[in-house]
Amino acid sequence: MDTSRLFQPLKSGDTLTLPNRLVMAPMTTTAGEPDGSFSAQEISYLARRARSGIGLIMTPACYCHKSGHAFERQVGCDRDELHGSLSRCAEAINQAGAASFLQIHHGGNAVKAHLSGERPWAPSAVHNRRGTSELPREMTETEIWLIVESFAKAAGRAKRAGFTGIELHGANTYLFQQFFSPFTNKREDRWGAVEWENRVRFATEVVKAVRTEVGAAYPISYRISPEEPEPDGYSTHDAVRLLEMIVPLGVDIVHVSSWEYGVGVRNDWPEGSHPTKMIRDAMPSEMPVIGVGGVRTPEQALRVLDDGVELVAMGQELLLDADWPKKVQEGTFDQIRTSVQTREELEGLEIPELMRPYVARFFLPEQ
Ligand SMILES: Cc1cc2nc3c(=O)[nH]c(=O)nc-3n(C[C@H](O)[C@H](O)[C@H](O)COP(=O)(O)O)c2cc1C
Repeated sequence: MDTSRLFQPLKSGDTLTLPNRLVMAPMTTTAGEPDGSFSAQEISYLARRARSGIGLIMTPACYCHKSGHAFERQVGCDRDELHGSLSRCAEAINQAGAASFLQIHHGGNAVKAHLSGERPWAPSAVHNRRGTSELPREMTETEIWLIVESFAKAAGRAKRAGFTGIELHGANTYLFQQFFSPFTNKREDRWGAVEWENRVRFATEVVKAVRTEVGAAYPISYRISPEEPEPDGYSTHDAVRLLEMIVPLGVDIVHVSSWEYGVGVRNDWPEGSHPTKMIRDAMPSEMPVIGVGGVRTPEQALRVLDDGVELVAMGQELLLDADWPKKVQEGTFDQIRTSVQTREELEGLEIPELMRPYVARFFLPEQ
């Protein structure tokens, strides 16, 4: 099998050159320090994947404001005192030969009050899609601007800390998506979801504020869920329309978040297409798109490139096998680990200790 296409460098405009097409997907570790800094174990786990040959490492989602703190031991980028933590992480990844992107996040209605210290903030007082949240309270106009500003300030911190770029976490039902989705956004003001220009306002204001903060030549990735599975959710057509508005404001990469690459629920895309491909085809050809979801083998990774998608992200596979790029480059495909069967094998994974119980539910669901 010829896998050389996975190892071709990618140049995007004047701002970004990546050594190859492989991306480590952002994954929350629940292994940060209690004060919101990266732990040493987390940093070495990320650098380990960079050393093995991943071209772009996305950090776990980091909260940009304390009201957005959604996961136990989540890392933060919400204050200047975290500069040391951020720069240690960026430096370790960059020195290992990869580009580093800080993923910036606000959990909105998925926030836990015991982590943020107060009732969750959200566009409207509506439970999250998963039904797992506490009832949030509607954000005031002042609070919305505060969070817009927090994303911008966090991006500035990432840049000063030495990250190659940032990713705005617009996917997976968190705050950006809560503003965009009519299910979670019941507002009737200019941030509401009835009128199109209001529905996209949160995303457009954040992108504008971030671009102003970091300047013209700093890479910004936007992660989006291409559709919502619920019948009253948004479609890939809506997602494309949103992207067509924010990309010209300064987005350099679009990262299409899916659990299983090439699969969607609505079937309203063109013949032979699927959500990620539809977004790829609709975006400017010079702007790279990242595809993700269930990629375990080099064949699956090549299939993403076959669709014209420039970059392939892997999450769970890089937890299972930190040496994936090396093994693929050396052609030792049969040595790639694509699952764990027992708790002992799980304990042997090269991941932060606190992450093991958290990922057990993905790898050993029946236990
Ligand atoms: C343990 C775990 C943590 C995750 N945390 C994040 C996160 O912090 N930010 C994010 O955008 N996606 C997160 N995801 C989703 C992944 O980035 C990815 O899209 C998903 O796992 C599908 O890709 P995969 O099959 O290669 O793992 C997480 C997934 C897992 C398994």
